[in-house]
Amino acid sequence: MSDRANIGVLDDGPYIVDGLKELSNSKDEDLEISSKVALCRCGASSNKPYCDGTHKKIGFTDKVDKDAAEHPVTEGESRICVTQNGPLEVSSAIELKVKDEMKLSEDNPYYLCRCGASENKPFCDGSHKRIGFSDDKN
Ligand code: FES
Repeated sequence: MSDRANIGVLDDGPYIVDGLKELSNSKDEDLEISSKVALCRCGASSNKPYCDGTHKKIGFTDKVDKDAAEHPVTEGESRICVTQNGPLEVSSAIELKVKDEMKLSEDNPYYLCRCGASENKPFCDGSHKRIGFSDDKN
């Protein structure tokens, strides 16, 4: 078992981030983290960037294809930044797990959708602009 920080992508649910060292937002504010934190990926949480369970209420569905995420981890900080009205910016020191398989990112950082509308989940494809996704708090 790796002791690197990692992100698990749940079917029809949030990102589960394990071992994260830093979470910040576009205002450069440090956000609270615990050893395991659930981050919204449906776009509907009232407590963004955290999951509040709303994905169930809105019927968010996304069965992530385990081949969809092709991602080599690098050394460095395990840091996620919540971008303004856009995706999670993830340092490539954080492994991405889909169906319990480690996926490696060649992009540093890489970007995970948090608006729920990407056609290339779990990655951002720019759809947040099209749907007018907004998160005033972050
Ligand atoms: S955050 Fe969802 S497509 Fe960019």
